Amino acid sequence: MARILITSAIPYINGIKHLGNLIGSQLPADLYARYQRGRGNEVMFLCATDEHGTPAELAAAKADKPVAEYCADMYAVQADIAKRFGLSFDHFGRSSSEQNKRLTQHFAGKLDEAGLIREVSEKQVYSNADGRFLPDRYIEGTCPNCGYERARGDQCENCTKQLDPTDLIEPRSAISGSTDLEVRETKHLYLRQSAMKDELDAWIDSKTDWPILTTSIAKKWLHDGDGLQDRGITRDLDWGVPVKKGDQDWPGMEGKVFYVWFDAPIEYIACAKEWADANGKTDSDWERWWRTDKGADDVRYVQFMGKDNVPFHTLSFPATILGSGEPWKMVDHLKSFNYLNYDGGQFSTSQGRGVFMDQALEILPADYWRWWLLSHAPESSDSEFTWENFQQSVNKDLADVLGNFVSRITKFCRSKFGEAVPEGGSYGERELTLIEELTKRVRAYEGHMEAMEVRKSAQELRAIWVAGNEYLQAAAPWSTFKEDPEQAAAQVRLGLNLIRLYAVLSAPFIPETSAKMLSAMNTLDTNWPDDVAASLEALPAAHEFTVPDVLFAKVTDEQREDWQTRFAGTRA
Ligand code: MF3
Ligand code: ZN
Repeated sequence: MARILITSAIPYINGIKHLGNLIGSQLPADLYARYQRGRGNEVMFLCATDEHGTPAELAAAKADKPVAEYCADMYAVQADIAKRFGLSFDHFGRSSSEQNKRLTQHFAGKLDEAGLIREVSEKQVYSNADGRFLPDRYIEGTCPNCGYERARGDQCENCTKQLDPTDLIEPRSAISGSTDLEVRETKHLYLRQSAMKDELDAWIDSKTDWPILTTSIAKKWLHDGDGLQDRGITRDLDWGVPVKKGDQDWPGMEGKVFYVWFDAPIEYIACAKEWADANGKTDSDWERWWRTDKGADDVRYVQFMGKDNVPFHTLSFPATILGSGEPWKMVDHLKSFNYLNYDGGQFSTSQGRGVFMDQALEILPADYWRWWLLSHAPESSDSEFTWENFQQSVNKDLADVLGNFVSRITKFCRSKFGEAVPEGGSYGERELTLIEELTKRVRAYEGHMEAMEVRKSAQELRAIWVAGNEYLQAAAPWSTFKEDPEQAAAQVRLGLNLIRLYAVLSAPFIPETSAKMLSAMNTLDTNWPDDVAASLEALPAAHEFTVPDVLFAKVTDEQREDWQTRFAGTRA
């Protein structure tokens, strides 16, 4: 039994995620986790909310809540939606947890001991009225370029010019509106990534099975221009992990916190400790996943993320781990995704454009979305959600191919043989040919799933469903029955066993439906079909079953148009 550690990029806390976010990491990670569990491997699948930083503070202010309360509320909302989407995390943690605070401070202390941290003095805008330093985007004023009065300190939204806060005419605090601002000196910690360049380079070179896209992004950051830059890992904010070295104070760093991108990936590790603490486990229970000196050397660690996250996972986080000099497990394989667009434009959280996870579940069950998203995953290029395409996929793949197969065979059996697997007859050439085809396809499906080729896996699964349909069409037990009821019995027996087989193979994509199929087939046998022929004998003659309700309803033209209109604008 292999041990597989899986993490999905941890979603920002500031609001409910849209379908583009979902297919960019959490959903394919879930597909892989479910598949690996289905193969009998031991899986640890971790995700969390990313709760620190300016976006969280801004969203809390907008919601008119203290930031800790806002985060706790949004965590509950995200956890609930994740569950309803069938995301099978072993633990869904929080980057604001005590465990992550400790571990982040621990890493900073280790990096400091290793001489990898230096202090840098910087000039930054301070607001007397707010009693705090203001990040660039918290400063507003008039754009020197176009005269727009609500330009932000980092960029003018109107003319898109990149700005420095000192460029703004009549700058004011975006928090209080106060113009009582001054430039002050402030000290920050920088991680000396430049000193780790060779080590990182060698580590990346050792990853010979990484996709070229991933390696080339990492190499570009390592070698382009001035090469890998040292990175500021602290901020003048209230909300975040207080800057400390281990449990010691850090002189000169009072009132400062670590930068969100420093503590967020550390939560991948802290999340395992949260899991242990929440489930009455010991430290060695989580350390065997994360410490190579405590058993994690035989773990395979796979990370899922959107393409914009790649540099943080190939350079910044590895720099933190390597720099600590401690034996933490590092990523083996990294699967990254392009973007999913929405109906001719982009999904956008800030603009509320597209379909959000909660809205999706209001109109259809999770499996409809899971199937469409996974079978259209933006792997080799960006992909696009359109309602036409969604309707077509649901109606063809789910309703006509899979749903119809299950319904036909179970209903036919009920009408001629009753609700039990019929006895008699034996498999002939047609059946053996089908078993041969299925064997080939199941092996191909496994190959694609192992390689995390999401679209190819979906295509293969669909082809497996189609093969059953074609068999049924050709064998036509409803005709056979008239001349040779014994042969019809064998055909139906095979068909019913195919339902169980399909439930097992499809579970990673459509877990709820898979469970319904198994329950209709009245079986708990979810064994993987290592031997397809044998797996088609799992339900013996006389085994009772029930005819399930319609598995997938078709999306009507009326519904499609209705949703198209409803989701055309932006979310309030
Ligand atoms: N919250 C980030 C995003 O949504 C991802 C953080 S991933 C981690 O882009 F590595 F930092 F954890
Ligand atoms: Zn402007």
